[in-house]
Amino acid sequence: MTTKTRSPISVCPWWLGPFLASPLRRLVEPPEPLLRPFVRPGMTVVEPGCGMGYFTIPLARLVGPAGRVYAIDVQPRMINGLVRRARRAGMLDRISTAVVQPGESTTQSVPPGAADLAVVIHMLHEVPDQAALLRALHQAVKPGGELLVVEPNGHVSADGFAASLGLAAEAGFRRSTRDVSGRALGALLVRA
Ligand SMILES: C[S@@+](CC[C@H](N)C(=O)[O-])C[C@H]1O[C@@H](n2cnc3c(N)ncnc32)[C@H](O)[C@@H]1O
Repeated sequence: MTTKTRSPISVCPWWLGPFLASPLRRLVEPPEPLLRPFVRPGMTVVEPGCGMGYFTIPLARLVGPAGRVYAIDVQPRMINGLVRRARRAGMLDRISTAVVQPGESTTQSVPPGAADLAVVIHMLHEVPDQAALLRALHQAVKPGGELLVVEPNGHVSADGFAASLGLAAEAGFRRSTRDVSGRALGALLVRA
């Protein structure tokens, strides 16, 4: 199958960042129950599409002082918001941030094979070339490492999600036997 590069898709506007990072979101989508089954102390985690850090800061807490989170976004304002929040939370020293430009490899700030886990939450549908992102994540994740993908139900169709998982398989990820509980559009994959 050939790699399809879709027409440009708009990214989440930066001014929505504070709403996405708001503590009120915990009422509908608390981050810890989603992340905790997959994150252990000392892990290295890569998170493209981190926004203003709604999942990044809990990830930094879960990996602990010996762990690291590589948080990556295309919008500098999202990263600026994340840095402010992470500093306030006392987690900034566990987080490496990077802004990627269109055309650059999303994971260029991550040493190849360094990540135990990649976390891609509510961002894959914004990426015009999902195949390229998934290949970059395959390079960043160590053999046997995992990729957690969650997409917004309703905003993304079941067929669209299945197509993304097909691209992940082409990139070299296979479906894990472990479930992502409570998520219609959630999957745990393993770097084969
Ligand atoms: C809907 S927001 C979700 C943010 C965060 N994951 C959350 O759930 O709060 C999607 C984020 O992905 C970022 N994004 C979109 N395309 C990207 C790409 N190719 N590489 C990195 N980040 C991207 C956007 O700038 C935005 O911050």
